[in-house]
Amino acid sequence: MAAAKIRLSPRIRLRFGARQSSAAFNSDFPFCSRPSGRPQPDTCHLQPPSINNIVIAIDGTSASGKSTNAKLVAGALDYVYVDTGAMYRTLAWHCLQKRLDVHDAKAVAAACRKWKTRLECVESGGLRAVHLLVEGYYPEREIRTAETSAAVPHVAAVPKVREWMVRRQRECTQFGNLVMEGRDIGTNVFPETDFKFYLDAQLEERSRRRAADGIQENLAARDLRDSQRAVAPLMVPLGARVINNSQMTAEQTSGLILQEVRSRLSRPAQ
Ligand code: DC
Repeated sequence: MAAAKIRLSPRIRLRFGARQSSAAFNSDFPFCSRPSGRPQPDTCHLQPPSINNIVIAIDGTSASGKSTNAKLVAGALDYVYVDTGAMYRTLAWHCLQKRLDVHDAKAVAAACRKWKTRLECVESGGLRAVHLLVEGYYPEREIRTAETSAAVPHVAAVPKVREWMVRRQRECTQFGNLVMEGRDIGTNVFPETDFKFYLDAQLEERSRRRAADGIQENLAARDLRDSQRAVAPLMVPLGARVINNSQMTAEQTSGLILQEVRSRLSRPAQ
């Protein structure tokens, strides 16, 4: 398995093959144009086509603090934040818009093959983040509705969708060093990175956090679904630092991650 690769250097140097050539990027995705319509945050600058960036992978269970901590770490290091769950949610929303049956894997895969998307890096409130736009639009609020939340696990279980998402997620390195959060980043999207973290917390604590956000959710069922699906199930990536933050604040959790990343970055490359 790719996750078992030998560690060669404390600083991951990501290199890509033909799939990632700048020509393919430019023809498929005019990545950094500003969408029309309502006012948008500033777009970030693209990196040159030669990509040598660091990726910090943050995986973990639902409500384990991935988003909060990934944003804190990205902000502290001035890295670009990528919420991969939002990308799956965007496809779920798109399928609902098209009145597709999200249980129909073939229809979902076909929609994913055909939709017109573009990655964009925006800066807002001091944080740079990647958004997946559909026909120039980022459905920021729509992807958080109960309807989209109910649809997204079905969409995320479709193998062709996951292949598509992994390609887009790897393309995010064009925007710079990344902090990417999800369920399969250290196992599947960037198995070669040396910076892997897996967050977890006790079920009661995670349920309490969800309830504090006004969301009632059966997290035990969600954990089971995420960890038992056939494709890219949630698991601890090989070499990941596992942080159980049941008794920790977000500042303490992100502090641990930052401490480890900085300590590795300060070690001379071997
Ligand atoms: O983190 P979230 O709740 O926004 O994730 C939405 C859905 O996408 C959830 O069902 C888990 C799934 N997901 C995934 O399968 N792989 C990822 N890398 C990120 C999210």
